Amino acid sequence: MKTLTEILQTRRSTRKFDGRKPGRDVIEELLRLTFMAPSSKNTRSTRFMVVEDGETLAKISRMRDFGSAFLADAPCAIVVLGDTATDLWVDNAAISATILQLAAEQAGLASCWVHINGRPCRQAEPEGEQAGDYLRTFLPVPAGWEPLCVVALGYAAEPPRPRTAKDDSDKVIWVNG
Ligand SMILES: Cc1cc2nc3c(=O)[nH]c(=O)nc-3n(C[C@H](O)[C@H](O)[C@H](O)COP(=O)(O)O)c2cc1C
Repeated sequence: MKTLTEILQTRRSTRKFDGRKPGRDVIEELLRLTFMAPSSKNTRSTRFMVVEDGETLAKISRMRDFGSAFLADAPCAIVVLGDTATDLWVDNAAISATILQLAAEQAGLASCWVHINGRPCRQAEPEGEQAGDYLRTFLPVPAGWEPLCVVALGYAAEPPRPRTAKDDSDKVIWVNG
């Protein structure tokens, strides 16, 4: 099993998958691990919708005219939602989505986050129809649940691109007494 260091080093956003569908047992284990994510005041406000149906994935892929088209060829996608009764639902859902991606990497799956919340369907019309509202026209999203993002899941069609070394030292401030 990969160490956390290996998971963090090898995970890359993957948008091309081979034809294999992750088994239900694999997805259930990912969700079991993801439900252990930290959340504000332990509110555990994050919700998930697992989509495996090709037609529905194709519809989801059309939620935006930029950055979501590849979902049409993903074998599986998990919509990550939050219960908006919790004030920090966005923060909680973002943490859960990240944990889901790391758990997927550990399981030998590749993934990519596709954003929903606050994103318009058409990039040129920021005030027009929103991706989340479009999804509600065909997905059974309960009242009070809001989608944050979709995490595409599958087996990578190609090996992940290696990371290029970056100097991030200017993004860190050390405060010493
Ligand atoms: C908040 C967030 C939103 C993202 N939205 C999209 C998206 O809509 N479409 C997409 O293809 N990738 C999306 N990504 C993936 C990023 O493009 C990717 O993480 C980034 O380019 C770094 O590449 P890496 O994940 O391979 O390290 C998103 C990632 C995050 C964290």
